[in-house]
Amino acid sequence: MAFDPEAFIEKQVRLLRDEVGNEKAFAATSGGVDSTVSAMLAHKAIGNRAIVAFLDDGLMREGEPEDVVGRLKGIGLNAKLYKVQEPFFKALKGITDPEEKRKAFRRTFYDTLTRIAREEGAKYFIQGTIAADVVETKGGVKTQHNVLDQIGIETSKEYGFKFIEPLVELYKPEVRKVGERLGLPAEMCQRRAFPGPGLSLRVLGEATPERVAVVRRATKIVEDGTSDLSSFQAFAVLLSDKATGVEGGRRKFGDIMVIRAVDSEDAMTAKPTRIPWRRLEEIRDRILVELPSVVKVLYDLTPKPPSTIEYI
Ligand code: XMP
Repeated sequence: MAFDPEAFIEKQVRLLRDEVGNEKAFAATSGGVDSTVSAMLAHKAIGNRAIVAFLDDGLMREGEPEDVVGRLKGIGLNAKLYKVQEPFFKALKGITDPEEKRKAFRRTFYDTLTRIAREEGAKYFIQGTIAADVVETKGGVKTQHNVLDQIGIETSKEYGFKFIEPLVELYKPEVRKVGERLGLPAEMCQRRAFPGPGLSLRVLGEATPERVAVVRRATKIVEDGTSDLSSFQAFAVLLSDKATGVEGGRRKFGDIMVIRAVDSEDAMTAKPTRIPWRRLEEIRDRILVELPSVVKVLYDLTPKPPSTIEYI
């Protein structure tokens, strides 16, 4: 049976209204389509009693916190920006193992968000987990930051909140349809996916503020250089090894930056985008000029499977 976004919205709004009653709910959002659609459903159900929270955890892209909160307010949501970079870098300090990094992020994310939610007087916690997040986490591919109950973390016990996930049965294309039906502007509906743990997943090895700053600039360069291509995601990844370069006739060990761009429908499978060679050269040149620590720029040709889209 074809997916009916209208019926889905009606049902979820009714469920949210019944569940939350006259209480306040805290809707965590990253500005991505999943969490924005989930926050919109909450707002439709309970109006400004849905506090739409965006955490500036220091792992976002350039200008993203202000930009996202501005857009969320622009579509009528009761959006708030919380600046909380310190606990995240503290939690990530010294961690190099990918799964440990994901777990440290998740712990800090929920500790921080639920502390703020309590301070705001919310009783419910709404998030935009979708079916693909659950499938990949349960399948053991990786620990998605927003999958908890489904892997045995008892959210009520652990965090003292009832978690509500209105989109947990849907995949990305359906979420986009719901967003369109809710009147979410096209640029937000079609926005490229960006993972919750943000740039910490795009720095292999330790995610220090300095290394995150390098990958943040490279990400902007890759995004600028691919904005007219139909990639599902396009970004930069900083590897943990150093490579040999040359500067002023002398050997120099520098950073290795990967350009990753993929075409995909639902993130379950993906193929590398066929970026024109000339374009790749332009991106490479900007990276080398703007980031002098980089001595090698690579283009990742692997599809998912066997690779994944992210590196961690
Ligand atoms: P992978 O790397 O598994 O990624 O091929 C599939 C899709 O999921 C995104 N991703 C995440 N999104 N929290 C998120 O919100 C996460 O922990 C997470 N890990 C991966 C990734 O960007 C891609 O779109």
